Amino acid sequence: MEGVNQWLPHTLIICVLTILKIQGTSEVPITIIEGALAKGAVCLDGSPPAYQFDTGFGVSVNNWLVHIQGGGWCSSVDDCRTRTYSQYGSSKKMKSTDYNFTGIMSNKPESNPNFYNWNRVVIRYCDGSSLTGDIEAVDPATNLHFRGARVFNVIMEELLGKGMKSASNALLSGSSAGGLASILHCDKFRAFFPTSTRVKCFSDAGYFAHVKDLSGEYKFEGYYDHIVTLHGSAKNLYPECTSKMKPSLCFYPQFAIPYVQTPVFILHATYDTFQVQNILATPQADPKGLFTKCKQDINACSADQIQSLQDFRSEFLDALSVVGNGASRGWFVNNCFTHGQCEYQSKWLGNPSSTLNHKAIANAVGDWFYDRSTVQMIDNQTVLPHYCTN
Ligand SMILES: *[C@@H]1O[C@H](CO)[C@@H](O)[C@H](O)[C@H]1NC(C)=O
Ligand SMILES: *[C@@H]1O[C@H](CO)[C@@H](O)[C@H](O)[C@H]1NC(C)=O
Repeated sequence: MEGVNQWLPHTLIICVLTILKIQGTSEVPITIIEGALAKGAVCLDGSPPAYQFDTGFGVSVNNWLVHIQGGGWCSSVDDCRTRTYSQYGSSKKMKSTDYNFTGIMSNKPESNPNFYNWNRVVIRYCDGSSLTGDIEAVDPATNLHFRGARVFNVIMEELLGKGMKSASNALLSGSSAGGLASILHCDKFRAFFPTSTRVKCFSDAGYFAHVKDLSGEYKFEGYYDHIVTLHGSAKNLYPECTSKMKPSLCFYPQFAIPYVQTPVFILHATYDTFQVQNILATPQADPKGLFTKCKQDINACSADQIQSLQDFRSEFLDALSVVGNGASRGWFVNNCFTHGQCEYQSKWLGNPSSTLNHKAIANAVGDWFYDRSTVQMIDNQTVLPHYCTN
């Protein structure tokens, strides 16, 4: 007994220190949904999916922000197997510090004025298909599971059971591959709530455009073909789209978004670094490597290369135009050379070079969500690619 008594105070001190640490930083613990195994709703390696949840408070206890983490996709067995060794393919490899709650996830009013006191959840991304995959068969040789769509459903069920079913306001959000997922799952998310709940979707850096690369071809489309085929995604894309064109095209926001009924907001940088590097100036499209330096650092671009980037911007804006100008749709499009702007505190709020008409991204998204004003802003003034930093 004496040993236990000596030990207890230390445990208490460690607990208190841990709680202080979690409050002092933006660290939120991980919850693993063990019960998901029985439903076959699993990460690539067969491990159960996970999320991080920070409880809402004050006037927003009934408001829910569900954010989908990004992290690209896997398009082949080898590619997906590599992911199983990381947080992007296995909950066994996830740490809470991989994902800190800042920007749109922050719990501080001065950092995140519209959502700080909401229930804030991040869906940890471990399926490699923007949560669209669903293939029953598991090849014993690889043990890879393609079950992203089931992961989405099982996490929704879990959150509905934790109080989300009586939400007043609900926002499905996501960045990069997660921002694509927030568009592709928008109407499914809507369907979990009664009509009295205000439900909207927000996509950050998720508008991957079907545009030509430097050689004038649409090579990225082939990559999407592989992803959609490998993961069996077709049945989880908008059916009104897949009935008209091949499924991998419906993995592109510009072909899917005309069928989305729920209000959507697009946050994007026209010179999105991921798209410049992986859609426009790919090694295949630039075999001599002329763009190698420029696509990493825009200060290294020649005048011709800046022109190519501006042409890319025009094509991107054409692809974006299908979003339409319905009052429920919103967008905030700046000309930064960056990828993902809502999870980074300095881009989200407080950095003048990311604002449009003096409005910060954090305020634009809040105004749109709460119907305070129409937010449909494209930077037509500073059209050259530029870094947006403090
Ligand atoms: C999250 O915060 C912790 C503690 O401050 C830090 O060690 C870690 O690197 C951060 N993680 C990321 C992804 O920035
Ligand atoms: C930029 O031009 C587009 C197309 O003409 C227009 O819809 C948009 O409102 C303009 N953006 C701003 C910030 O004025």
